[in-house]
Amino acid sequence: MPQRERYLFVCTNRRAPGHEKGSCAERGSEVVHQALKEQVKARGLGKVEARVCASSCLDQCTSGVTILVEPDHFLYGHVMLADVPEIVENLACGSRVERLVLTAAELEKG
Ligand code: FES
Repeated sequence: MPQRERYLFVCTNRRAPGHEKGSCAERGSEVVHQALKEQVKARGLGKVEARVCASSCLDQCTSGVTILVEPDHFLYGHVMLADVPEIVENLACGSRVERLVLTAAELEKG
């Protein structure tokens, strides 16, 4: 398979219930990951434009569900299942959903 234009790494890390940091999986990232894969494929973006991958912890746990987008090198945070169509729509246009992009201040907090 050819290299895709973009790779979306969805954190699917899961910590034990009650852990102080929580985890993206606890906030529903596995469902987000699956929906992203399905919708990218359904839009015909999977062969050239984008590949959706599961990732271990991206070290932005308090902002989960987090998605690292490369090679653009930004992070989506607080992603919910309802955000997936908008993310895919922007992916198709080569743009991003600004309201979900983590700011420098949020990245500092981790
Ligand atoms: S658990 Fe997802 S960023 Fe750490």
